[in-house]
Parts: sequence; structure tokens; C-alpha cells
Amino acid sequence: MEAGIMRRLLVAANWKMNGDMSSNAALLAAFKAGFNGSADTAIFPPAVYIPQLADSLKGSAIAYGVQNIHFEEKGAFTGETNLAMAQDFGCQYILVGHSERRELFGETNAIVAKKVVAVLAAGLIPMLCIGETLEQREAGVTEQICKEQIDAVLTQVGIKAFEKIVIAYEPVWAIGTGKTASPEQAQDVHSFIRQLLAAEDAAVAAKTRILYGGSVKASSAQALFGQPDIDGGLVGGASLMAEEFVAICNAAQG
Ligand code: PGA
Repeated sequence: MEAGIMRRLLVAANWKMNGDMSSNAALLAAFKAGFNGSADTAIFPPAVYIPQLADSLKGSAIAYGVQNIHFEEKGAFTGETNLAMAQDFGCQYILVGHSERRELFGETNAIVAKKVVAVLAAGLIPMLCIGETLEQREAGVTEQICKEQIDAVLTQVGIKAFEKIVIAYEPVWAIGTGKTASPEQAQDVHSFIRQLLAAEDAAVAAKTRILYGGSVKASSAQALFGQPDIDGGLVGGASLMAEEFVAICNAAQG
């Protein structure tokens, strides 16, 4: 990290399609009681539970948002949620381009870029997920894939917008598999991503938060968050276990 530049760490929970009213309430209560406020945090529950989070987190510094959004303002898009709806309930962050959306729901780089444009236009913070599959890593194209995924957005929004965008580097082979990237493996890619941004604008690159995601656990969080270009984490499975998630958040200092 360049001297004098401090990026506040951010730890986000991606609940995916899990939870119910009572398990959510228990998780939120334990989190509010255990989290020491050492970093920024955001929770992404299934969209129908956003009102529950809005209610439970009122007055707290814990942010929340939806796991997916449509880029159109409104209309005949059955099953979709728009940004005004997310804003109605106080969402601050929007997860965009998660690998499960890309793989299972056909989201291309072009669709992801449209979503980032829409989220920024609404004044919310996109958390842009990128990352390579195992096949791509083994083929030695990790950097190329990350570059393509970033470039698709960069060409639409310009480099200045990356002051607002949070990037989550999530190697697909590490998601939900228990195989965390080593701190060094993750740092290598994070540093590459930051250099990509720095080639456009060094000041912006120094401010952009780049989170790591993929089987983050309490036991691996500290070493990951200690890397110079890792600015927090996006946590799936472990975010459904109150003690684990509290420990991960509390390991993020600064
Ligand atoms: P995981 O999920 O922590 O369960 O690997 C991370 C994610 O998909 O964001």
C-alpha cells in the first residue's frame, strides 16, 4: 500500500439462498452483540428478508443490500428487483456479478457492466465480483480473465467510478469448496487488479477496496486481511455461523 493511503476494511456476508425469519433474527442478534466495529460490514440476505434487516439494523452501522438487481428502472421483468425497491428499504450495497449469477443464471460481462452502471446511477455501491474458474487457473489465464471482467465495467463507467466500486476477487474454485486461496495466491491477484486500475489512475487505485472471497473462515481471515492489497472479505458459508462471522469481522482491523 502506498504511504499515507488507508483503506478501511470491509467484510460482507453473502447469505445466498439460505435462512428463515427466525434463523436470521438469531444471526443478526449474535452479530450485533459480538461485532466490535473494527471494520465496515454489509450483509446480503435473500431479497425478501431485506425488510427484516432494515428493521433489525436500524440505527446500527451495519449495512445491507441485495444479492442481485435488474438494471432496468421498472416494467415487465417477472421475478426481478429494481434499484428503487432496494433503496426504499435502505440498501447501500448491491452485489453484482457473483460467479453463481454468471454461471447458473447466464450473466455475461456485458450484463454485469449494465448493472454496475445502474447501481452507480442510483447512488449505491456496487460490489463487483470477479474471478477465474479452476480450469482457467490451471490454463494460466487467471489474470486475463480478471482483466476482461474489470475491463467490461471500466469501459462503461470510467476509472473515476472505481472510487465507489468495491471489487470482490472470488476465485470460483475456492467458493463453497473449503479450498481457500493462500494469502500469497490471493495477494498476487489483488496486486494485479490494483495495478490494472493504477495504470488508469493511481490515486483511484489506491482507494479502491478489493475484497477476497472463497471459503474465508475465522482461521484464515487474519492472514488474508494482513496482505497489503486485501481490504476485507466476502463471506458465504461462514457468514451463516454467528461465531465464525463475528470472529472474521473482528479480525478485520482498520
Ligand atoms: P464461500 O462463499 O465463503 O461459501 O466460499 C463466498 C461467496 O460466494 O461469496
